[in-house]
Amino acid sequence: MKSVTILGVTGSIGQSALRFLRLHRDKFSLDHISVGCNAEQAVAIAREFNCQSLGVADEACDIDLPDGVKLYRGAQALCEQAAQPVDVVLGAVSGSQGLPAILAAINAGNRVALANKESLVCGGTALLERARAKGVPIIPVDSEHSAMFQCLLAGKREEVHSIILTASGGPFREHSLEQLKSATAKAALNHPNWSMGPKNSLDSATLANKGLELIETCYFFDMAPEDVTVVIHPTSIFHSAVQYCDGSVIAQLGETDMAGAIGYGLSYPDRIETGLNPLDLTALGGLDFYPYDSVRFPAVDLARRAIHLGQSGTLMFNAANEIAGQAFLDGRIGFLDIARHIETALNKGGTKFKAGLDDIVRADAEAKSWCEDWIH
Ligand SMILES: NC(=O)c1ccc[n+]([C@@H]2O[C@H](COP(=O)([O-])OP(=O)(O)OC[C@H]3O[C@@H](n4cnc5c(N)ncnc54)[C@H](OP(=O)(O)O)[C@@H]3O)[C@@H](O)[C@H]2O)c1
Repeated sequence: MKSVTILGVTGSIGQSALRFLRLHRDKFSLDHISVGCNAEQAVAIAREFNCQSLGVADEACDIDLPDGVKLYRGAQALCEQAAQPVDVVLGAVSGSQGLPAILAAINAGNRVALANKESLVCGGTALLERARAKGVPIIPVDSEHSAMFQCLLAGKREEVHSIILTASGGPFREHSLEQLKSATAKAALNHPNWSMGPKNSLDSATLANKGLELIETCYFFDMAPEDVTVVIHPTSIFHSAVQYCDGSVIAQLGETDMAGAIGYGLSYPDRIETGLNPLDLTALGGLDFYPYDSVRFPAVDLARRAIHLGQSGTLMFNAANEIAGQAFLDGRIGFLDIARHIETALNKGGTKFKAGLDDIVRADAEAKSWCEDWIH
């Protein structure tokens, strides 16, 4: 039996992970779970899976705890849960608030299955070096990075020519610049292929998600940003690919369901059933690819610039995106202002918030506060 912790168990990734775990009760035990404020649902999950402990960030909520389940409450609960000794921690909290917990998991020597890309975008190579020093593997769970990870098993690192990172294009793929000016939050949150939490859905509409994923790719696989090509692939069947020096492209394909990448992340190095249907290639009716349009969606080019600024640049990219994204959802700025804000933040503060891994949480908070002041 593999013991598992899920940080963010009530979210979109958390729920897909539960679907996978229900198929394999003989192989995995879900021992620890963590949520923000959704205590009622978390208690039901703790009951169903006989969890040992439950973490709730919200101090105020009422909790009718099942017998034998230990409760962690408050701001530290997430890190306390991450540090419980288990075989694998699934990091599925949204945003850079997940970073201290991923660090806590690594420091405790727990293997990490990482969906929470923002923690790597902020922590960068320093986070990966800490994991290496602790002997802790980090397995990517973003569907694109899980695909790359699998495709990279087909050759040697020095044989890699480039990586192909696919993007669905989001709900505004065919919108003109003029239409994007008046894009609403409701439309932005309505992703055509994936059911995701609100932040990830908005990031997919601006393609800031692809910017974050480009940064994640460069850190995870030690790639130069110029060697990662972003391609629009509307149906999201082709999850991503690696191009080798002999001209071969090794791709990973599958249904648009995160259970595949989550299952691989939790069961690696084995492959076990995920509940997904075998892919029927004849029913797909073709795979379409289009060039990425950096005029309507500048976030990917901004991410490339952030990588060249170093870790403080990628931390700032994330901070500006989180703050501007929330300001858009609150109706304080327009859709196109999100990328404008990221650009200004990189221009004015891209090298401002340098930090070592142990004060990265402070640097992230300062960068966000600086972005908030600027938007205000
Ligand atoms: N969704 C996808 O398909 C997808 C795909 C690839 C990568 N990702 C990445 O996976 C991560 C999670 O995305 P998501 O879409 O699953 O997000 P989500 O649906 O918004 O879920 C976030 C989860 O984090 C919990 N949470 C929030 N604040 C917390 C805190 N302070 N302490 C503990 N838990 C807290 C939430 O609990 P409450 O319910 O109590 O608020 C919820 O369980 C993101 O980094 C995203 O980029 C997502």
